[in-house]
Amino acid sequence: MDIRFLGHACFELSDGDTRILIDPFLTGNPKAAASADEMNPTHIFLTHGHSDHYGDVVDIAKRTNAQVVAIVEMANELGEEGVENVSDPNIGGTVEFDGGWVRLTPAWHTSTTPKGQVNTPAGLVINFAGKTVYHLGDTSLFSDLQLVKQREGEIDVALMCIGGHYTMDPVDGVVAAELVGAKQVIPCHYNTFPPIEQDAEKFKQDVKASEVVVLEPGETHSI
Ligand code: NI
Ligand code: MN
Repeated sequence: MDIRFLGHACFELSDGDTRILIDPFLTGNPKAAASADEMNPTHIFLTHGHSDHYGDVVDIAKRTNAQVVAIVEMANELGEEGVENVSDPNIGGTVEFDGGWVRLTPAWHTSTTPKGQVNTPAGLVINFAGKTVYHLGDTSLFSDLQLVKQREGEIDVALMCIGGHYTMDPVDGVVAAELVGAKQVIPCHYNTFPPIEQDAEKFKQDVKASEVVVLEPGETHSI
């Protein structure tokens, strides 16, 4: 599987003909490594409704007919926006797709869509191409982060916010890495805007529980 970091919290996971786009905030993202019209996903997964995650989901989904997975209230709103291929789990729910599955997990944060709908944020546990990837979404540090590995067994890669201010910071991220227990951690949601400037190399040195892989926007990590 290739994990391509597209800036902020946006990643593309790809294997064969399947391309999963997570949190497609590209238009207006100062760190975006691609434009929305360059993306051709087969699936789009959303952690929550904030504009720095929801991003270009409507435009990309309408153009590609990618299967969108979002928490039920947001899924309903996407349907009203004209997105036709939408799956609507709630926290704890699993959606199967060709080649894998995705489950919504708790994340301690808030969530409002650009249209003002208040809903519940999530993390994403993704089983795909024989690997398990855990996108924590926007979250603070909380102890139930450790439940994912108890449930799934080994987590290959955690995509972890470390920017602080809106989410946990690198100091809390070190503890989160211990709780999550992934083989590898890719930090994200930092250095996009002034309030979330952080030193990812220091985070890499401080994390002992996992190998930290720091990606620049546009870089790909293969597992
Ligand atoms: Ni957020
Ligand atoms: Mn965010």
